Amino acid sequence: MTINFLQKYKPHLHFAPKKNWMNDPNGLVYFEGEYHLFYQYNPYDSIWGPMHWGHAVSKDMIKWSELDIALYPDEHGTIFSGSAVVDWHNSTGLFPDKPGIVSIFTQQLEGSEKIPPKQSQSLAYSHDNGRTWSKYQGNPVLEHESKIDFRDPKVFWHKGTNKWVMVLATGQTISIYSSQNLIDWEFESEFGDHIGVHDGVWECPDLFQLKVENSEETKWVLFVSIGDNPQFDAGSRTQYFIGSFDGSQFTAGDESNDWLDFGKDNYAGVSFSDIPEKDGRRIYLGWMSNWRYANQVPTEGWRGQMTLPRELSLRKNGEVYKVIQKPVKELDSYFSNKEDINDVIGSGDGLKEVKINKSYLDWVLNVERIDATKFGIILHHTEEHFTRITFDSTENVVILDRKSSGIIDFSENFSNIQAVKMDNVNNIQLHMVIDSSSIELFVNEGEYAITSLIYPDKACENISIFAVNGKVKVSNSHMSTPVK
Ligand code: FRU
Repeated sequence: MTINFLQKYKPHLHFAPKKNWMNDPNGLVYFEGEYHLFYQYNPYDSIWGPMHWGHAVSKDMIKWSELDIALYPDEHGTIFSGSAVVDWHNSTGLFPDKPGIVSIFTQQLEGSEKIPPKQSQSLAYSHDNGRTWSKYQGNPVLEHESKIDFRDPKVFWHKGTNKWVMVLATGQTISIYSSQNLIDWEFESEFGDHIGVHDGVWECPDLFQLKVENSEETKWVLFVSIGDNPQFDAGSRTQYFIGSFDGSQFTAGDESNDWLDFGKDNYAGVSFSDIPEKDGRRIYLGWMSNWRYANQVPTEGWRGQMTLPRELSLRKNGEVYKVIQKPVKELDSYFSNKEDINDVIGSGDGLKEVKINKSYLDWVLNVERIDATKFGIILHHTEEHFTRITFDSTENVVILDRKSSGIIDFSENFSNIQAVKMDNVNNIQLHMVIDSSSIELFVNEGEYAITSLIYPDKACENISIFAVNGKVKVSNSHMSTPVK
């Protein structure tokens, strides 16, 4: 019995804790052949509570082994979000013998009626590949006299200035600090006034350089997550800015900000540190939920899962740069090709139907719109439960509608549609990954992502392609099912 309810909706391809509550990914770092995923974790319950850092490791970012809790609360507070880096050259003095991992995180002390809560930044270090941790004796290493929102440090080594750089969420701005040793921090600059979306508190920043596809050009990208605000339907979501960074100040270019994901369920995403240069990828993952209903999603005994790890790049269309994201190539070895669809031309409700009956699935679909006004796919999870993905040429939008996808009544907001405005829908490439309780959609080679939780009884029984008021042509499409 217990096993059953704990397993219901448990993902096959995504990380979720065995038990209890998880939110943001923290301390993503690669070291000595392992990817480390730490995460906001409440070991006592399956709702948000006293935060610890949970810990999992993986060789390929898909299959994770959950380890013991890495960081426990102490006199400086509970353990909020943060990052981890490898101290290769013993800049901290904590690694006289060989390099190891340092984590930099926020500690939060609850306030009372008279005293506001206090957030400060602390360090911990590990000499055994993250298996055990010591807190730094001089914690906290960074505090602020008056700022109450002062959290989520993401640290990286900046080659140009030979310094560690920290981006920190400070209310409605991102503050940038620098350090020689991860211990003494100096304020550099603040970004965010009069730019971007300020619908909620700014959280979980990340700053890194990305290459523009098919060119040698690089740009700096700043991720900023925005907390839930009941006045707006979207709940919590992540925006990005594209610009330049000189080691001290981030400057956004014109028209440089957009949403990272147009689905509701990708929050607090940050990237891995220390992926070897010869690999060269910038990979991030997000928490696949939304603060609007995260504490109510209908899983029992556990709550929270991560998105798939996604490789990032930039695409330049005219003068506009866009962040591109695609599931990492490591995912491919979990699938084998089952069915190709080629040169299906027509219209109607069941233009093409494919029986699936699998617990997870990966699909690449290419659709050329001939004269249909709308087209798309229906994922039939069961006979009753389905999710509809529609491309509408009158509005040039793609819509994911999950109102019949299964359990939805835990939040009024959950059944609202998720949509993205596109330039046109005439030639669509769609990559879809479906798991027990999620759909991740990547449109046009990763140009738009829509990440969405769903709670059907089964992942997918069959899929049908439809076209309305005219024809489409489906070609070069592959459906892949799990490798046993
Ligand atoms: C983002 C966040 C962070 C904070 C953590 C607490 O989801 O609110 O700002 O550090 O979660 O769990």
